[in-house]
Order: sequence, then C-alpha cells, then structure tokens
Amino acid sequence: MAKVERNDPCWCGSGKKYKKCHAAFDDKLKAFELQGHMVPDHELIKTPEQIAGIRESGKVNIAVLDYVAEHIRAGMSTEEIDRLVESKTRELGGIPAPLGYEGFPKSVCTSINDQVCHGIPSEDIILQEGDIVNVDVSTLYNGFYSDSSRMFIIGQTTPEKEKLVRVAKECIEKGLEQVKPWQFLGDMSEAVNRHAQENGFSIVVDIGGHGIGLEFHEEPYVCYVAPAGTEMLMVPGFVFTIEPMVNAGTEDIYIDDNDGWGVYTEDGMPSAQWEVTVAVTETGYEILAY
Ligand code: MF3
Ligand code: CO
Repeated sequence: MAKVERNDPCWCGSGKKYKKCHAAFDDKLKAFELQGHMVPDHELIKTPEQIAGIRESGKVNIAVLDYVAEHIRAGMSTEEIDRLVESKTRELGGIPAPLGYEGFPKSVCTSINDQVCHGIPSEDIILQEGDIVNVDVSTLYNGFYSDSSRMFIIGQTTPEKEKLVRVAKECIEKGLEQVKPWQFLGDMSEAVNRHAQENGFSIVVDIGGHGIGLEFHEEPYVCYVAPAGTEMLMVPGFVFTIEPMVNAGTEDIYIDDNDGWGVYTEDGMPSAQWEVTVAVTETGYEILAY
C-alpha cells in the first residue's frame, strides 16, 4: 500500500486530508495486523458513493427475486425462472451477473432439493410439489454488483425440508447479529455454524461467500465454519455475502461431471441456502440485497 502523507488527500476519495480522515483508522487496522489478524486492503473498503451504487444494484436484485416469488409454481421449468430473471433484470436496467461468468450459460442459478448450488436452469427440470428450490440472483447495475438468494417451497413439503429451509434462513439472521465493525468474519461464521449444528444440520465447508461490489466475487473467501476471533477483520465499508449452504445430512458435496457446475450433497439429502449482500457500517450492518 502506498504511503499517504498526513496532509495528502485521503485514499478514500473524501477530499479530506488524510490526517483528518482515515489516518486513525489505518493505525487501528495496522494494530490488528500486527496482532496477526487478516485485515482488508483499501480496495475492499467501499466509499459511501460506492455503497450507494451497490445499494441501487441490490434494489434491482431484490425486485427480481420478488418477481420470481410471485410467479414460481409447480409445473414450471427452471428455464422459465431463468427467462423471468433475465427479462426483469434487463427491464430494470441491469445485467444478470451469472450470464457468461466463467462460462456459466444462464442468468440465474436454480438448485433443487439435494442440489446444493450452481444449478443450471433447464427446460427439462420441472418444479414438483414438495420441492425446495434455491433461486440465486446476482445483478450488475451501473457498474456495481449485488448478490442474494432465497429458498422457495413448492406447495407442501415434508416437515424436515421445511425445517431445513427455516433453519438456513435463521442462520443468516444469527450471522447478521455478529456483523459489527472491529469484529471478525469468524464471529459471524461461528454463530451460523452453531445454529446449524444445534438443529442437527451441517454447513458446507468447501464453498463459501465472498467480498462483492466492484466485482462479482472479490476477496476474501468467506467461510461459515470458522471459529470466532479468526478470519478477516470487519470494518466500516466492507461489503460481503452471507450465504451458508446448510445440509440436512453430511457436509460432503460433489460437482456434477456432466455440466461441470451443479453441486450436490454426497448423501443425497436435501440442502438449503439463503444469501444476503451486507455492508459493515459504523455501528453494525446494512443489508444491501436479500
Ligand atoms: N451467485 C453465486 C454466489 O452466490 C455465484 C454463482 S456463479 C455462477 O456467489 F456462475 F454460477 F453464476
Ligand atoms: Co454469492
């Protein structure tokens, strides 16, 4: 990181002198770093203008998921969900971020029952009564990315799947309670993991969340099984996703060889996931997409 002189303009773009802006903040960061903690680089700390941009992107993401919620039903193909997402996103002036991302062929991920994440929508996959389905929407809007996902229960399902969907959502709430400046991502993870375990479920270890905002996936990798007091320090302006995958059985997963994307539980038991994009604020957090 280039050394900023105390009378230079602050690196955050506020226009204020460094000594009156982020100098004390940087000293605090440095102290955590010297204690051996991971701290975010300046690029991971968004300005208020950038947060405003991500917030606007998040509004599109939320509206698209609301639109899916209105239309999703038994008998519908996941390809139809893809069409809803793409048309609504474009109507609102956004671009679906998954489309073409590392070769992903569609605009949204749709993952049903034992499918953990990254399901590719298809004309051949028809939603059935009792299915639980994750719809994961990500938007690029005016240069800013947002990412959130929800679970949908198609008609009536089993009490076990219903509990899984509920607990996965509660895991997000437990995690959010721990999002505060000068605490650690591990504080959030431990709360998420504990809630899953207490309910007899497991959290996927090999796939996690990410920083987000100027890119779809930014540093750091966000893990949901790390202990409190570990992983990156959360500071105001840091934006990331909470998106734990909660499995009814074992945490073990595999990737579908045929399409190279779909992730499934090894034991065939169901999996559920909700996702939020969250910003760390001066006092706690702000949800930018849900
Ligand atoms: N939306 C997923 C996430 O939460 C990313 C999917 S990548 C894609 O990070 F290419 F599959 F869309
Ligand atoms: Co994500």
